[in-house]
Amino acid sequence: MLQIEGLRVNYGGIEAVKGISLEVPEGEIVTLIGANGAGKSTILRTVAGLVKPAGGSIRFQGEEIAGLTPDRIVSRGITLVPEGRRVFPDLTVLENLKIGAYLRKDKPYKDLEWVYELFPRLDERSWQTAGTLSGGEQQMLALGRALMSRPKLMMMDEPSLGLAPIIVKGIFDIIREINRQGVTILLIEQNANMALHTASTAYVLETGRLTIKGAGKDLLNDEAVRKAYLG
Ligand SMILES: Nc1ncnc2c1ncn2[C@@H]1O[C@H](COP(=O)(O)OP(=O)(O)OP(=O)(O)O)[C@@H](O)[C@H]1O
Ligand SMILES: [Mg+2]
Repeated sequence: MLQIEGLRVNYGGIEAVKGISLEVPEGEIVTLIGANGAGKSTILRTVAGLVKPAGGSIRFQGEEIAGLTPDRIVSRGITLVPEGRRVFPDLTVLENLKIGAYLRKDKPYKDLEWVYELFPRLDERSWQTAGTLSGGEQQMLALGRALMSRPKLMMMDEPSLGLAPIIVKGIFDIIREINRQGVTILLIEQNANMALHTASTAYVLETGRLTIKGAGKDLLNDEAVRKAYLG
């Protein structure tokens, strides 16, 4: 579904992504793990059109999308749940969700129902301002808002960051459920353990280069991965 080939991204003189190639097959959960500063967020932000690549190609459903504007990329069916959630704190839960559907020409009531089914907690709190939600609830809202664009491919940047273990488990259950309902997922995680248990395919990124690729469950037993990322 998504094919990245030879992608390079620079910030000024700094090469953040040094020619990586990766694939996300339709219907799968693919994860990208790596240390701080490896370039994980940069890759997702480039696919989403927020950063311009210096070279390489990004194909989605067979068509080149590198260099398209972010709104066009959302219209194609790709959405990004950014690092740090970025909900609008002074808007209500419902208003935040509606923003996720801003490019839709049809009325997204069905999707609102779908999101409230996935996250009953958001339904209960639909009139609450987002800034007063707990961290876990804000992450649910960020995921729900992304679903309102009715994505084919959902990219998530560290959805478990800063959440208690029990909440993290709930977020991963939801990620699997979203996938079961037909959404392909590209997931960045610092919680390598959960990510490798969840993903069918995993890539390891080290300072802008992909070093290891394998089935998630195989990487759990890989000596180098265990040492560097599983502690
Ligand atoms: N807007 C920017 N301007 C300049 N350099 C940047 C910018 N954004 C990221 N970088 C640099 O690019 C490199 C990769 O950053 P990136 O945020 O992609 O890493 P990451 O793997 O997501 O790290 P983390 O796990 O800490 O989120 C880092 O060295 C970072 O300092
Ligand atoms: Mg990051």
